[in-house]
Amino acid sequence: MNSIISPSILSCDFLNIENEIKIFEGVKDLWLHLDIMDGHFVPNLTFGIPIIEQISKKTNIPLDAHLMVSNPEFHMAEMKDFGLDNITFHLEASKNPIDTIKKFRSFYKSIGVSIKPGTQVSELSDDLLKELDLVLVMSVEPGFGGQSFMEGSLDKMRELVRRREELSLNFQIQIDGGISDKNVKVVREAGADNLVAGSFIFKNNTSEYLNKVQSLR
Ligand code: DX5
Ligand code: ZN
Repeated sequence: MNSIISPSILSCDFLNIENEIKIFEGVKDLWLHLDIMDGHFVPNLTFGIPIIEQISKKTNIPLDAHLMVSNPEFHMAEMKDFGLDNITFHLEASKNPIDTIKKFRSFYKSIGVSIKPGTQVSELSDDLLKELDLVLVMSVEPGFGGQSFMEGSLDKMRELVRRREELSLNFQIQIDGGISDKNVKVVREAGADNLVAGSFIFKNNTSEYLNKVQSLR
């Protein structure tokens, strides 16, 4: 499988969001990463259900929702008919992740679970990994764009690659936080299949966005 690049619109020009998104229309192996923060699970607030619904109506780009919220099931229920391609919730915010996945299995093509920098891969049980389409390793503390990449995430990805092989599974390994052309090589070698990048792509002129995506491939 080719690796996927997932631009995170957290760092986009929000007053011009429709035009910003259009730039990525039709690009192969690309997801649009939507960071949903509730000011509770993480200190910051972003956007939520009505904005995601509008985006889903305007674009054919695969949409990847990253829920940084204390009540993931509420959001998963509200967004179940938006045609999202992947939805990821945090292990730390979930009482029974396997139950949550089973409950929403039929509404989402792909469901992921994310772990914060302080959460170990060993906290993801074999039974949970068997239910997952994606594991998101956070390489910064969730909540803000533009932070520095945490090296400890590399060993986590290597461990996930090992577990995936041992269990003969095929979940994607996604990495999110501080990704740039400076660390992309080592991140991919460690096993990332799907790379989220926010400020590296969006903190440039719009004419540069696709070059930045290309430079991560
Ligand atoms: C952080 C978000 C990330 C963020 C990444 O909590 O989950 O998706 O947008 O931004 P950069 O690439 O700037 O670290
Ligand atoms: Zn994210």
